[in-house]
Amino acid sequence: MTAFGRAVLAATHNPVARSIFTRTGPGRALADRFVAGDTLDQAVSAVGGLNAGGMAVSLDLLGEEVRDEQTALEARDAYLACLDRIGVDRLDANISVKLTQLGLAFDRRLARSSVERLARRAGELGTTVTIDMEDSRFTADTIDIYAEAQAAQGNLGVCLQAALHRTPEDLERIAPLGGHIRLCKGAYVEPAAVAHQSKDGVDAAFVRLLESLMGDDRVRPAIATHDDRMLSRAEELGRTRSAPYEFQMLYGVRGDRQRSLVDAGHDLRIYVPYGSEWYAYLTRRLAERPANMMFFLRALAGKS
Ligand code: FDA
Repeated sequence: MTAFGRAVLAATHNPVARSIFTRTGPGRALADRFVAGDTLDQAVSAVGGLNAGGMAVSLDLLGEEVRDEQTALEARDAYLACLDRIGVDRLDANISVKLTQLGLAFDRRLARSSVERLARRAGELGTTVTIDMEDSRFTADTIDIYAEAQAAQGNLGVCLQAALHRTPEDLERIAPLGGHIRLCKGAYVEPAAVAHQSKDGVDAAFVRLLESLMGDDRVRPAIATHDDRMLSRAEELGRTRSAPYEFQMLYGVRGDRQRSLVDAGHDLRIYVPYGSEWYAYLTRRLAERPANMMFFLRALAGKS
């Protein structure tokens, strides 16, 4: 993450900044760009449009770092309702879940049993579950729970962050389990002992991991980036790969590039977040791109 991104994430942790974003029109307008809506109905309507355009979807009910059992169980139940809707409406979609939303921060067993329950239901409906990767406090548990749930259910995937030094070893450990592996750069601020600090370091690690993923037919790589250099390298590697793989991008980011990948015949899945807990997600999107922050600040000052 860049120095700008670190500064944005530090500033947006401030409660005053939070209320400016969540209680003003420009904050809401910015969220609308990256979030499909507050409700499942709104998200389903976005999925319909994306599916019609030839894109699959991963639905993400926003929420993370839940601290009590009732909220964690409500999140699990909301995801079960989401899966039912995928089945009833025959959507080309799976779900992406954060284990801290299912209780990982205070009860590992609860998070594990919830993710297995979601995977079982997803399996009955012919779809899959992807486990998002959160900050490095949760990496080891997330990998362990993924490995246990995937061995039991067989229809899961997990996100790996190129930024982390440990990721090549994690990949080696989980590749024999099959499943889909989403490779991303990593959206969290991490210390040097844990993660590459420079953009060049992260990009080089991404390319190395991409090459090993695309050379491994046991897994289904999901290449999650909007970076043209990474996309071109993946397209090159895809020419000699016979097993399936897909690209993944975020809702609201680089719609032009999303279209061009589909037009070129690639499989593309769009990550579609929905729900009212959008603030933490939005801060990560702001940290990735100074232009998003400038857009917000200009709108707040009434200049756009
Ligand atoms: P990079 O940040 O270098 O951006 C390349 C170009 O893409 C930019 O120059 C710009 O044009 C465009 N772009 C990137 N971000 C933008 C934004 N927010 N707004 C507008 N344009 C933007 N991370 C994580 O830690 N855990 C996870 O589980 C996931 N899951 C996930 C799923 C999917 C489908 C995607 C695409 C990404 C994630 N991420 C994630 C986020 C990921 O780690 C990373 O922070 C972002 O994808 C940005 O990195 P890029 O690879 O796009 O490159």
